[in-house]
Amino acid sequence: MDSFELNKVAGAVLGTLLFAMGTGFLAELIYKPKPAGDRGFPLPVAEAAAAGGGAEAAKEEPLPVRLASADAAKGQNAAKKCSACHSFEKGGPNKVGPDLWGVVGRPKASHEGFNYSAAMKAKGGSWTYEDLDHFIHAPKGFVQGTIMAFAGVPSGAERADILAYLKTLSDQPVEFPKP
Ligand code: HEC
Repeated sequence: MDSFELNKVAGAVLGTLLFAMGTGFLAELIYKPKPAGDRGFPLPVAEAAAAGGGAEAAKEEPLPVRLASADAAKGQNAAKKCSACHSFEKGGPNKVGPDLWGVVGRPKASHEGFNYSAAMKAKGGSWTYEDLDHFIHAPKGFVQGTIMAFAGVPSGAERADILAYLKTLSDQPVEFPKP
């Protein structure tokens, strides 16, 4: 190979390198990514929170206030969604869940003949209106590991109505907490 030939090879190599560099540079000029800015549309975050009860919970009145204007008749109607699993009569049968006659003030997990979850047995204390409100709002949030397969009642007003109905299911109704 003489020097002329070597020059040709070197030239070819250099040329290829230059070409690669050049196209790379050009490509970068053309396709340089620009920051996205705020194109597109905002995701409906507020709406999702409302659906999950977040926004609603935020503007909810405290329980004693809600109970003061609660309606037991409306509550009885709303409690139809519980009756798939619960009976409400005195001495009524345990179904999927325990009979709820006299549940207000009753020690948790204490209805005769019902096989409660370990989580419910471990919860302890008696059912206050406050506890019932939390449990009916989000059963699995209040008693982690409960076998009550129910999503919960998101509306605070509706829960208060249900509690007003539960209050009537007793020979000695427990008074509502004072606002
Ligand atoms: C899909 C069936 C189902 C539905 C619907 C349901 N529950 Fe229950 N409930 C259960 C089961 C099962 C238990 C026992 C939970 C455990 O042992 O963890 C229970 C337990 C309870 C308890 C505790 C009782 C006690 O003796 O300690 C209360 C209070 C209660 N439910 C109220 C309600 C109310 C009010 C509704 C309607 C808003 C409702 N439940 C809807 C199945 C249901």
